[in-house]
Amino acid sequence: MEQMESLINDIKAKLQANGQDPENYLRGLKHNRAINYWEYIQVDTLLSLQNPRTDFKDETIFIMYHQITELVLKLIRHELDQLCLTEIEPTLFVEKLYRMVRYTDLLSSSFSIMNQGMSYEDYNQFRLSLSPASGFQSAQFRFIELMCTDVDLLIHEHFRKNLTPETTLAEKFDFVYWQEAGYNRETKKKNKTLSDFETKYMGNFIQTAANMQDKNLNQKYKTMLKNLDQTGQENLIAALRAFDKKYNIDWPMVHLETARTYLKSKGEVKTATGGSHWEKYLHPQFQRRIYFPDLWSKEEIENWGKEG
Ligand code: HEM
Repeated sequence: MEQMESLINDIKAKLQANGQDPENYLRGLKHNRAINYWEYIQVDTLLSLQNPRTDFKDETIFIMYHQITELVLKLIRHELDQLCLTEIEPTLFVEKLYRMVRYTDLLSSSFSIMNQGMSYEDYNQFRLSLSPASGFQSAQFRFIELMCTDVDLLIHEHFRKNLTPETTLAEKFDFVYWQEAGYNRETKKKNKTLSDFETKYMGNFIQTAANMQDKNLNQKYKTMLKNLDQTGQENLIAALRAFDKKYNIDWPMVHLETARTYLKSKGEVKTATGGSHWEKYLHPQFQRRIYFPDLWSKEEIENWGKEG
């Protein structure tokens, strides 16, 4: 009883501190409906978001698995927001990195839902009605990279040499690795997948890159490392390396394998909905997306994503 009284006093004090009347608050509580699962989780809304464009049954699998991926990417961003934008003590920092590792593991291990779980014939029919849309246009995928590392590191080594202190952030985006999916450097033309994507998101990308310049993970861990003992340093480095490998080699490889299953088997290479030279573009060896390059040896970097 005493405990109850002290609890009520705490709540009263909290409400009064916010300028709220505790009595009115309690009267309101009396009328509150009991919470239930379906409203809290918004099940009806969630299950109303699958709208196939064709009558092929497997298109629903395709849509839902993309939606599942977007939710998992949001889980990763949820941790990144805290890692980059708040001050977190090192042990928790490492714990949160391992959450990101587990989310990425989930993405890789579940990709068989795509690779084995759709009819080859049906997929190659319904995908024709989706062009020029492509998973390439997942903005969350790009926000994650901008929170993980510096824009300069998202530029191929051979273009990076051309950067000067005067190069603006907006100009740097002309050279990020993902331009290779849709920008023809000879004709200077971008395909529709890329130009639609940039029209919608480029402002946000530049803004995020600007906000993250000194707060992205690659910057943050370096500051943190200086204040850790040897064990602390080793733990932090192991977690960062695990995430870099899982996100930038393992997931891209299962994704590429799936693209090969549907777009390359049976002797011919098909054009992807996003129109990239996909087999070259999607390979981690070509992209060379490495968020924390200082944590890898020269040899490891050279062999990044090498198959077999
Ligand atoms: C049958 C399944 C899939 C196939 C055949 C496939 C194929 C491709 C291809 C060929 C590209 C290169 C861009 C293009 O030309 O379109 C691409 C890019 C991409 N796809 Fe998929 N994809 C599949 C499933 C998924 C799923 C489930 C996701 C989850 C969101 C996804 C996310 C992405 C992302 C983020 C990129 C850009 C990767 C990068 O820039 O490194 N894809 N995909």
